[in-house]
Amino acid sequence: MDTPAICDETILVTGGAGFIGSHLVDALTPHNEVRVLDNFSTGDPAHLPDDVTVIDGDVRDPIALQRAARGVDLIFHHAAVVSVSQSVDEPRRSNQTNLESSLLLLEQARQEDARVVVASSAAVYGHPEELPVSETARTNPTSPYGVQKLALDQYTRLYEELYDLPTVALRYFNVYGPRQQGPYSGVISTFIEQARADEPITIEGDGQQSRDFVHVDDVVRANLHAATTDAVGEAYNIGTGTRTTIEALAETIRDATGSASPIVHREPRTGDIRHSGADASKASRELGFDARIGLESGIRSLVDSSGTGRRDAGAVSEPNRESESYS
Ligand code: NAD
Ligand code: UD1
Repeated sequence: MDTPAICDETILVTGGAGFIGSHLVDALTPHNEVRVLDNFSTGDPAHLPDDVTVIDGDVRDPIALQRAARGVDLIFHHAAVVSVSQSVDEPRRSNQTNLESSLLLLEQARQEDARVVVASSAAVYGHPEELPVSETARTNPTSPYGVQKLALDQYTRLYEELYDLPTVALRYFNVYGPRQQGPYSGVISTFIEQARADEPITIEGDGQQSRDFVHVDDVVRANLHAATTDAVGEAYNIGTGTRTTIEALAETIRDATGSASPIVHREPRTGDIRHSGADASKASRELGFDARIGLESGIRSLVDSSGTGRRDAGAVSEPNRESESYS
């Protein structure tokens, strides 16, 4: 199915300066009035185009949220503490951002009668009992982050059921692409950086663990389908349906970069999920969404691009920024 067009809407993207959010903002801004609410804890203002209204504020702040959501037709909720280890260290703190503020947002959406699409995660499944994992599989998160995403996912469904609010939860698998940066960025950006620097590519464990890597451009398309579907009140896996081992990934990246990096192994990550792969058939059937970008071509284009995908600050004028502070 063709990617649906969204035009002439007033749209809020929370976490819009982040990796995934900023690509979504890029897709929306040409034909809509787009607002971004972000506290720039991991997001980067340089990721934002100039024709977007930026509210420098916190999703935990009800006033900032109220102001950002006033009069909107549609909300994409991406703001989150995305570091799983941070959620283990500080479960209450991550809960405030990942869950409590999400409830504030759903309430605000009710007042505005706005559709909501939320970023959920494959982390809701924990160690999957079946592969590929479908939306009906047992959910058994292994981190506070996963518990928070699961509760958000369930509240999203419930708001449709109880209040007739059109909502969709997208359970992303391992997303990669330009602008993924920082200490909590994924294995692909880490390996590319290591390969480019001709430093050892560091596999944690035996490298036979596997993931379903989905390109951010496909994730943006999934959001556009979710924003227009009639099949609301549902959660959808967003992946490719193909699993790749971390060892094969390391080799693909070494080849694509032409690097001389050795591939080395170190201690496995405590509590690491062994295998993760999406049964992507529900999104295909009900949303009309199928991932289009294969891992090899996704990596090749990432390697060929300038690297982080950061906007050239000289070429983009400063976005229209409002100021909010969280107290
Ligand atoms: P990211 O860290 O790049 O983006 C998160 C954004 O939220 C950042 O711009 C950050 O500054 C902002 N933010 C954080 N706390 C905030 C707060 N309290 N108030 C306002 N803004 C705040 O991460 P990402 O990879 O783009 O993730 C986006 C969403 O997708 C998150 O909800 C994440 O849990 C989910 N997700 C990502 C992946 C992945 O593989 N990247 C997988 C599953 C789910
Ligand atoms: C990722 C997401 C998480 C999301 C989950 C959903 C990131 C950073 N995290 O977690 O938000 O909820 O998917 O499925 O995108 N590895 C190495 N060497 C490295 C780095 C990683 O071998 O230098 C291995 C890890 O041990 C792991 C695999 O690569 O086995 C993937 O790690 P990572 O990219 O951090 O993602 P997940 O842990 O799957």
